[in-house]
This record gives sequence, C-alpha cells and structure tokens, in this order.
Amino acid sequence: MITFNNVSKAYKGGGRPALQRINFHLPKGEMAYITGHSGAGKTTLLKLIMGIERANGGQVIFNGHDITRLSEHELPFLRRQIGMVHQHYSLLSDRSILDNVSLPLIIMGVAQSIAIREAKMALARVGLENKLNFLPRHLSGGEQQRVGIARAIVHRPDVLLADEPTGNLDDKLSFEIFRLFEEVNKTGTTVLIATHDTHIITQRPKPCLVLEEGHLK
Ligand SMILES: Nc1ncnc2c1ncn2[C@@H]1O[C@H](COP(=O)(O)OP(=O)(O)O)[C@@H](O)[C@H]1O
Ligand SMILES: [Mg+2]
Repeated sequence: MITFNNVSKAYKGGGRPALQRINFHLPKGEMAYITGHSGAGKTTLLKLIMGIERANGGQVIFNGHDITRLSEHELPFLRRQIGMVHQHYSLLSDRSILDNVSLPLIIMGVAQSIAIREAKMALARVGLENKLNFLPRHLSGGEQQRVGIARAIVHRPDVLLADEPTGNLDDKLSFEIFRLFEEVNKTGTTVLIATHDTHIITQRPKPCLVLEEGHLK
C-alpha cells in the first residue's frame, strides 16, 4: 500500500535533512505507528505521503503509483484515497458536527442527501450518533477528536493517517482514540499514526517505526 524506497527530504534553508534514506513498507490493511522525538521527521513523513511536501530523492509508492512523479493536478485524486486526522481537530466552530463531517463529501461533489447519510454512519462508527447537531465547542476534547476521525473516514479512504492525534488528550482518552483507530483498521483501512505517546503505544499490539533525527532506527 505504502512503500518508501530510500526516501530523503531536505527543506530549503533547513539544516540537516528532515528525512534520510527512509525504507519501509506498510502492506494494505495493516496498521503501524511512527514515533520519535520532536523534530525527528514524523510530520514530514506523513506530508510526503499526502503529497504536501516532495521528496528530494527516492520513491514514495502509494497504491502502486510513485507520488514523487505525480503532477500537481494529479494530487487531489491521490488525496481522496487518504483520510487525515490532525492534533488540533481543526473543526469548523460555527457548524454542527454533522455539517463538519458531511462537508468533505459535498466538496467532492457528492449529493447532499448521500453526504448526510454517510456522515451519520461515520459519526455512528465513532459513537457520536446522538450528538449530530452539537457544535464542536459543546463536545469534550476526546469527542472532538472522534469527530476528526469521522471526518477523515467519511469518504471511505484506503488509508487513514494521523499526526499526533492524542497530543491534546489525557491518557485515558488517548487510549480510547487509539482503540478507535484499531477498530477502523479492522474494517480493512490501512492506518499510520505519528505519535510521541510511546507509553501508550507500547501497550498496543501494532508495529512501530522509530525515527531519530531523520533516520529510521
Ligand atoms: N517547512 C519547513 N521548513 C524548514 N524546516 C522544516 C520544515 N518543516 C519541518 N522542518 C524541519 O524538519 C525536521 C523534521 O520536522 P518534523 O517532520 O516536523 O518532525 P516531527 O513531526 O517529528 O516533530 C525538523 O528539524 C524541522 O525543524
Ligand atoms: Mg510533527
């Protein structure tokens, strides 16, 4: 599903390269974590998969396509196969959670009635079917991140990526969020999560890629 062949990334004007000669393969339907200290290159690695940043060397293979060779106008097609969960939820504060989750589909051109049906299903998967009309600020942090996950899976992506999804949550809520990612993974979605919550993920039964100053250990 996702393969990195000798991938390196150096930012313009940056010091040492953010990533150096990274090799790994995440098969379809698998789940893995990326850990490492702040600045180790976790976010950069995810951005290369999304095509937000470009590698300087090597190949990033996604579903058989080398992303490093895609043109700008081919990238939106790639991104539709990916769902992304952020640390800060980035929900629209003046819209209901049902609107927040259905909006990505409407932007993709899906009919409103279908978008709402799919959004309700995604919100049910994260246990928020009773809060459809709530505004984000009326939910707890853990619930807001559940909305973030529902929004990321509403278009049924092949791959779910998350960048420090529990960065703002305490241990108990973080644990629940990691369990939710495992539930999503069980339905066949490939999942890759960057986190420095090592004390929690060492208790989770999934492989872990460890980055150290741009190198994979
Ligand atoms: N846009 C950028 N421009 C220059 N340097 C960057 C940029 N983004 C990240 N970096 C650098 O790349 C390295 C890896 O950063 P990042 O991928 O954000 O690590 P992590 O997510 O593990 O904290 C760091 O040294 C960081 O300062
Ligand atoms: Mg980061």
